Amino acid sequence: MKQKFVIEGLAGKKVLNGEIKVNGAKNAILPLLAATIFLDKPAEFSNVPKIEDVARMLELLKMLGSEFEWTGERTLKIDASKLSSQVLDNDNAKRMRASILLTGPLLARFGKVSFPHPGGCVIGERPIDLFIEGFKKMGASVSEKNELFEISAVNGLIGTEFFFPVPSVTGTETLMLAAVGAKGKTILKNAALEPEVVCLAEFLNSRGARISGFGTPEIIIEGGRLFKESTSSRLIDGRTVDKVFPVIPDRIEAGSFLILGALAADNLKITDCQPAHLDSLIEALRFSGVTVEVGSNWLAIKNNEKVANETLRAVNIKTREYPGFPTDLQAPMTVFLTQVFGESSIHETIFEGRLNYVVDLEKMGANIKMWDAHRVLVKGPTSLKGKELDGPDIRAGLAYILAAIVAEGESTINNAYFIDRGYERIEERLKKIGVKIKRVDCEVC
Ligand code: EPU
Repeated sequence: MKQKFVIEGLAGKKVLNGEIKVNGAKNAILPLLAATIFLDKPAEFSNVPKIEDVARMLELLKMLGSEFEWTGERTLKIDASKLSSQVLDNDNAKRMRASILLTGPLLARFGKVSFPHPGGCVIGERPIDLFIEGFKKMGASVSEKNELFEISAVNGLIGTEFFFPVPSVTGTETLMLAAVGAKGKTILKNAALEPEVVCLAEFLNSRGARISGFGTPEIIIEGGRLFKESTSSRLIDGRTVDKVFPVIPDRIEAGSFLILGALAADNLKITDCQPAHLDSLIEALRFSGVTVEVGSNWLAIKNNEKVANETLRAVNIKTREYPGFPTDLQAPMTVFLTQVFGESSIHETIFEGRLNYVVDLEKMGANIKMWDAHRVLVKGPTSLKGKELDGPDIRAGLAYILAAIVAEGESTINNAYFIDRGYERIEERLKKIGVKIKRVDCEVC
């Protein structure tokens, strides 16, 4: 049964109140799950978000022969010791781009892997040339027929030097995973700096890998098999890493809640997050005039009701790789900019299809001019009106929820599935802070 969200808007009032908790990061747990392919003993992760993309990844791993069980509310144990296949299921792998993360460890463990092109999607073309080039440089041979790739390295992968012409997040993670199982040293240059890359390297190191330089553009991996249980507990970045490895908080979820706070809350505390991962957003909101309080693992918007939208000013946003402004927060930020005074430009530099959703915001009453596929101009403030919308992807879907909360009247957001891919039971958490939202079953939506 399909589902949709129905939201009664607040007509611009800033009345939400209370605390909202951030879950573990989608884009951290997906590579961590891929990393379990190396291990002949079970791995256990805490703070795992119960989202559709995790369910899809677990399904893929199960089809390869892994076993898993939920040992706690958000604690997941996964055992890849009986994993026997290196062929990714065509339909499942195509439905989720992150399935490509599995190719690195499968290739390193079995000397071969077959997988379909994970496909483009609504946010842009999303090529995989860098993954293929990286595997080739590690000594693998690649053949492609009808968008099905066969990669083999019968004598094992060999450490290499690889320069990313563009720093790719899953590219860095996949080649790092492959390099852990390769013979010799690999140096990844112009690698992605994202916290999710760091989280993956920390997990691999906790299992005996020798990776250094993560969090910088040059990552060095001393290859060699990993078949170890987690060693003693250690403190990494303020988090205790023990037998149960904690997934880092989702910075995109935290950032979206912060934007929601700026838009529609009087007092809102966002808990269980890592504010240091959100400097670019906090800076942009403060520039606009929003009062953001920052704690060790929380963020807060205080007494926001007194701040009229006319006193908040426009900000120009340019998405960049971490620590720049995240492309995954671009759509929620655009909703915020429809509510502040002046003209804001938004320049999406990472993906070419990631501004298409603005057409729907215009239908709601936003004043947005599209310059080209990468740039729009938002004029504010404008009052938004409730509408029926189709959630186009995970992040724009959440932006529609924010727009619906700000709008006057009722909005319906179809395709709840897209939002469920990245956010766990979002309606339950939003209800607690005063949002009038319900999930409704629908035959066609
Ligand atoms: N690129 C290439 N060739 C490749 C790979 C990437 O040209 O082989 C280009 C892309 O076209 C893009 C740029 O490199 O222009 C950067 O894309 P990247 O590879 O970093 O994106 P990704 O790894 O596929 C991850 C997140 C995305 C997030 C981007 C950017 C995961 C599972 N996905 O994607 O998250 O938008 O990094 O930060 O980590 C989402 O969570 O909704 C989402 C789309």
